[in-house]
Amino acid sequence: MSYTLHRGDALTVLKSLPDESVQAVITDPPYNSGGRTSSDRTGRTARAKYVTSNSAHDLANFPGENRDQRSYRSWLTELLTEAYRASTEHAVAMVFTDWRQEPTTSDALQMAGWTWSGTIPWIKPSSRPRKGGPKQDSESIIWGVKGSLDNTRDLYLPGHYIASQPRKGRVHITQKPVEVMQQLVQVCPEGGTVLDPFTGSGSTGVAALREGRRFVGVELSAHYADVAEERLRAELTKDDFELAGPEA
Ligand SMILES: C[S@@+](CC[C@H](N)C(=O)[O-])C[C@H]1O[C@@H](n2cnc3c(N)ncnc32)[C@H](O)[C@@H]1O
Repeated sequence: MSYTLHRGDALTVLKSLPDESVQAVITDPPYNSGGRTSSDRTGRTARAKYVTSNSAHDLANFPGENRDQRSYRSWLTELLTEAYRASTEHAVAMVFTDWRQEPTTSDALQMAGWTWSGTIPWIKPSSRPRKGGPKQDSESIIWGVKGSLDNTRDLYLPGHYIASQPRKGRVHITQKPVEVMQQLVQVCPEGGTVLDPFTGSGSTGVAALREGRRFVGVELSAHYADVAEERLRAELTKDDFELAGPEA
């Protein structure tokens, strides 16, 4: 299996991808959420929004969290439109979001041409309790299809996931669990290409390589591109090691 990691802006890179060159788009964009007011959402960094003050880690901030609601919708629509053009017929798009941005994300997905086909809850048991109200312990994966699902494939996937964010060895503020990503990447036929325009630390890519899919990623932060590169390379090296077997 192989991967290509582009360092730069997702929209710029997506515009350069050939038509119909990927079989799935699985991504976790900056949510541009995390606050009750517009200035809360646009004025705070990703770290301020998503890392609690008593957090055990000291991971780097990431860019792209300061759009207001109107520009987030336009930007995500343009992005998903380019992703649609770069996808083959029957490709599936899966976009992570939170409760506040769910309506905007499903609007953007549909405006871009995808047929919105469902919302997959991701439940995170280790979330903090909330005093006086319900625990905020889930995020959502809005998904859609280019045309219709390929019903010749013998594929059955769960409709929800229960998994905590990685704790041990965590390398990104909003890192997704690889075990969940390994299930999601199966919407891409084996040997096909999974695109993640917001690679972060590379969890989608690691999952794709593990499941025998190719990976194309984009990451704007130089720091997180380095982290992703390291994880992706380690995944390929591991394959070589496993194929060759340990030395006697
Ligand atoms: C929510 S995080 C993705 C985390 C990833 N799923 C993981 O498990 O590590 C979003 C990532 O998008 C990157 N990003 C923000 N704006 C971007 C842009 N315009 N183009 C490419 N990447 C961008 C951020 O640096 C951040 O690492």
